[in-house]
Amino acid sequence: MTRDDVLVLGGTGFLGRHLLPRLAARGARITVPTRHPHLARELHVLPQLRVVPTHIGDPESLPSLIPPGGTVIQLVGILSEGRGAEAGFEAVHVELTRRVLAAARRAGVRRYLHVSALGAGVDHPPSRYLASKKAAEDLVRASGLAATIFRPAVVAGPDGGAATLFARLVRTLPVLPLAAASSRLAPVAVDDVARALLRALDDPHTIGKTYELCGPEETTLAGFVRAVAHAMDRRVRVLPLPDGLARIEAGLFEHLPGRLLTRDQLRSLEVPGVCTGEGLRALGLMPTTLTAALAGLGARKKVPMDSAGRS
Ligand SMILES: NC(=O)c1ccc[n+]([C@@H]2O[C@H](COP(=O)([O-])OP(=O)(O)OC[C@H]3O[C@@H](n4cnc5c(N)ncnc54)[C@H](OP(=O)(O)O)[C@@H]3O)[C@@H](O)[C@H]2O)c1
Repeated sequence: MTRDDVLVLGGTGFLGRHLLPRLAARGARITVPTRHPHLARELHVLPQLRVVPTHIGDPESLPSLIPPGGTVIQLVGILSEGRGAEAGFEAVHVELTRRVLAAARRAGVRRYLHVSALGAGVDHPPSRYLASKKAAEDLVRASGLAATIFRPAVVAGPDGGAATLFARLVRTLPVLPLAAASSRLAPVAVDDVARALLRALDDPHTIGKTYELCGPEETTLAGFVRAVAHAMDRRVRVLPLPDGLARIEAGLFEHLPGRLLTRDQLRSLEVPGVCTGEGLRALGLMPTTLTAALAGLGARKKVPMDSAGRS
């Protein structure tokens, strides 16, 4: 990749924290907008990276951030809906993407990368989350931009995402009641997703393509929790919850701060989180094992969490 101006939307999140140092090391000039600049302090040390305190949901702020002739990487995503329509799946995944694409077209953006989610490719997504991810993908494909779409499985790493969430539970609960415990997953290492995005920037053959990104091993949600406990050198007893009880639990949890589990997430888990394609290998990358992806998890004492329960 030559030196480039890159706007990374959602760059302060789990995946962004793994992507940005790599992008910076390639000499890119990077802009990262955020609603929470106080949580993005670690990004300030990266060379040629500008953190812009703003809300990209505000239609005024977006156009001025898009680098003319540059690259836009869209990582914004939510797992559960916040209060108010502006914090719902439709607003955050679909309408925001629509505005980003329009502004990117106007600015003559050279390259656009979009992170969706595994399961967004099914014909009739069972959850609002997956349906909104699918609708956003459709907008990207129709945009006419030089776009590449990625559909990661559950993303695994030592410092964020589902592993951090389960690590907190493993630390505090000797027995973990688990909804959808037998759901199939092939978790992908967060660094592999970051590397896949960079490969796509390097390779124009990836334009117009969609890559499903999975790890090399298939497991279940219960197996993933055990792998998290193993990485922390702890033992956990997983107690699979029957579906009816899981729905009741989700119905309660979705009203609590942090929204540990929602009924919509249970519906997303109905779609097997395993890949039909070999996206990483197609990009010339060797998938990292789950054990290696989670290495270092036990070393982390605490990952800060914001009021939305995001880490
Ligand atoms: N983690 C996984 O297991 C997983 C699996 C499949 C797909 N994905 C997808 O991968 C992408 C990155 O995931 P991640 O785990 O890095 O997410 P994350 O850690 O939760 O970060 C989400 C990012 O989105 C931004 N954001 C959230 N709501 C927003 C809103 N209403 N308006 C503007 N910005 C908003 C946040 O920016 P602020 O700094 O402004 O808060 C944050 O930088 C997402 O699209 C996600 O759906 C993730």
